[in-house]
Amino acid sequence: MPEMLMEVEEEDDVVPNGRVLITGATGLLGRAVYKEFKDNNWHVLGTSYSRLRPRLEILNLLDSSAVNGLVQDFKPHVIVHCAAERRPDIVENQPDSAAMLNVGASENLAKVAAAVGAFLIYISSDYVFDGTNPPYKTDSVPNPLNLYGKTKLEGERVVLQNNDGAAVLRVPVLYGDVEKIEESAVTIMFDKVQHSNKSANMDHWQQRFPTYVKDVASVCLQMAEKKLQDPSLKGIFHWSGNEQMTKYEIACAMADAFNLPCSHLRPITDEPVGATPRPWNPQLDCSRLEALGIGQRTPFRAGIRESLWPFLVEKKWQQTIFH
Ligand SMILES: NC(=O)c1ccc[n+]([C@@H]2O[C@H](COP(=O)([O-])OP(=O)(O)OC[C@H]3O[C@@H](n4cnc5c(N)ncnc54)[C@H](OP(=O)(O)O)[C@@H]3O)[C@@H](O)[C@H]2O)c1
Repeated sequence: MPEMLMEVEEEDDVVPNGRVLITGATGLLGRAVYKEFKDNNWHVLGTSYSRLRPRLEILNLLDSSAVNGLVQDFKPHVIVHCAAERRPDIVENQPDSAAMLNVGASENLAKVAAAVGAFLIYISSDYVFDGTNPPYKTDSVPNPLNLYGKTKLEGERVVLQNNDGAAVLRVPVLYGDVEKIEESAVTIMFDKVQHSNKSANMDHWQQRFPTYVKDVASVCLQMAEKKLQDPSLKGIFHWSGNEQMTKYEIACAMADAFNLPCSHLRPITDEPVGATPRPWNPQLDCSRLEALGIGQRTPFRAGIRESLWPFLVEKKWQQTIFH
C-alpha cells in the first residue's frame, strides 16, 4: 500500500465520531457510558462531582453558570445525563436537594443543550410507574409511588418541555462493574449469597428486571448514532433486561453463576412494610427501541459473573496466596 494512503487512513482512524458530554461519569452507569463512547471513537468529556478521577471534569450541576460555560465551550453533539440522586431512601430524607439535582439541574441542562443543538439523553427510571399493570409502554400513564420516582418523572417533563429534540431513556434496576458491592441494589446481595453459613431473608415480592450497565451504555451509543442520521428520534424510550426476578431469585441466580450454594437464602413473599414504597412490577416494554433495531441484552448470569468476580471471597483468597 502506498505510504501516503496509509497515512491518510491512519488519520481517518483518529477523527472522533463526535463530541459527547457525560454527566455523572463517576457513577455506576456513567462509567459504562463513558467507556462505551470512548471505545467507539467519540471525543468524550465526563463530569464528576465529589469523586476525583483522572480525565474527568469536576462540575456541580447545581451551578448553572458553570454548566452553561462548560457546555458552550465543549459544544457537544450529544449529552448523556446520568447524574442524579437515585437512592429512594435518601430522596425521601433530603427532598429539596434531590429535587434540585433531579429536576432543576436537568431543566437547566435541557435548555443549554437546546441552545448548542446537542442531543440530550436524560436517564430516567421504571419507578415512574406504580407497577400494578405491567408491562408499561412508553406512552403508558406514569404514577410514581415514591418521591424518587416523582422527581425522575418531573425531570422528564422539564427536559421534554425545554428541549424538543431530547430523549428520555427509562431503565430498571442496574448492575455492573461496581467500585464496592453496595453501589448497586443487585450486587449488594452478594455478601449474603457468599456467607452460606448464615441464613438470609430475601424479598420475593417485588418483580425486577436487573439490567447490565454495559447494555444501557450500548443503547445510549446506538441512540446517539441513530440521532445523528435521523433527527426525528426523540421522546420517551425504554430499555430493560428481559429476565424477570425477585431479589430472592436474583440472589439464587448469582449463587448459580458462581457455583455457590443457595439453600441458606429464604424467600419472603409478603409485601415489605415500613420501607419507602416501591412498585410491584414496573416492567418496561422496550418495543419502541427494538423496532428501531436498537438494543443489547447480556444474560444475567454472564453479566453478574463479569461484574462480581473481583468480590468473590474464594478468589480473593487465591490472589492473596499467589500474588
Ligand atoms: N442505579 C440504578 O439501579 C438505577 C435504576 C434506574 C434508573 N437509574 C438512573 O440512572 C442514572 C444513573 O444512576 P447511577 O446508578 O449511575 O447513579 P450513581 O452511581 O449514584 O451516580 C450518581 C452520579 O451523579 C453525580 N452527582 C451527584 N450529585 C451531583 C451534582 N450536584 N453535580 C454533578 N454531579 C453530581 C455523582 O458524582 P460523584 O460521585 O463524583 O459525586 C455520580 O457520578 C440516574 O439518572 C438514575 O436515576 C439508576
